[in-house]
Amino acid sequence: MQKQPIFLDVDTGVDDALAIILALRSPEFSLQGISTVSGNVSLAQATANTLTVLDILDAPCIPVSAGAAAPLFGPAITAGDVHGDDGLGGVTRAFPPTRRRAAEDAAGLLLEAIRRFPGELILIATAPLTNLALAIRRDPETMRQLRTLIVMGGAIRVPGNVGPVSEFNFAADPEAAAVVLGAGLPLTLVPLDVTERVTLTRRLVEESSRGGAIQTFIRQITTATMAFHREHEGADGMFLHDPLAVGVALDPSLVRQEPLAVTVETQGAFTAGMAVADLRRRCRTAPTANVCVEVEADRFLDLFVKRVLY
Ligand code: RIB
Ligand code: CA
Repeated sequence: MQKQPIFLDVDTGVDDALAIILALRSPEFSLQGISTVSGNVSLAQATANTLTVLDILDAPCIPVSAGAAAPLFGPAITAGDVHGDDGLGGVTRAFPPTRRRAAEDAAGLLLEAIRRFPGELILIATAPLTNLALAIRRDPETMRQLRTLIVMGGAIRVPGNVGPVSEFNFAADPEAAAVVLGAGLPLTLVPLDVTERVTLTRRLVEESSRGGAIQTFIRQITTATMAFHREHEGADGMFLHDPLAVGVALDPSLVRQEPLAVTVETQGAFTAGMAVADLRRRCRTAPTANVCVEVEADRFLDLFVKRVLY
């Protein structure tokens, strides 16, 4: 079976970690590299967390490159309240990374991977889009040779999660999100509209059969995030935002997609980071993304549990 080359861009917090595990446990994929960016936690912490996840999985030598330590403009925002101050539910003190990261040039690592697989590579971005915006600015022609770009981000017909109308990845770097949405790339958007319909419950985690180091790691890193979701979202578990982006790459039939003209607000005092979709019936604006508007949540959860928890 010809493997599908993929590349991940992450700000490894808990759901990014679960997305990396799902990608590595999917034989359909050949993971060509991972770039890290400031988001849930600092760049240094997101990079260390990514290396820790690869160590825990005893993953093959996959290049990991640190990217942007801050958004294109303004200060960095983080989400320690959701993922724990260290981004992985406080467990990293017990799991210091052993492997080393590759160079600091995340955009360079990504562009190199695209040139190795012109027209074939799928880029899955589950973080603020700073690295992607910098890669587009450096070499837009190469970025246009992506087979597709799958972005976890935005909120179209539902409220935001980090503000009334803004989702975290877009709010953390609105300018970068606007650059990526406006670059004319083959883009699939996986917004909160679908990711908040996919909940990993404590019961599912506890029921996973294997009690090995990976299951223990997953149990530990999800504890803090599930407590946050229970308190603040009234959810019995945690939303699988980032793993669903990997799921869409694995099986696009899991979602129903709608071509929409979407851009990102960058100026609003209350709306910066808002994904602005033109939903008018007679929309005359050209679509900028295929937006996932419905998801077969149970079918995805079944796939996730089988590949990640067992
Ligand atoms: O809004 C959810 C997104 O923001 C996820 O990617 C999560 O990891 C955080 O980065
Ligand atoms: Ca993320």
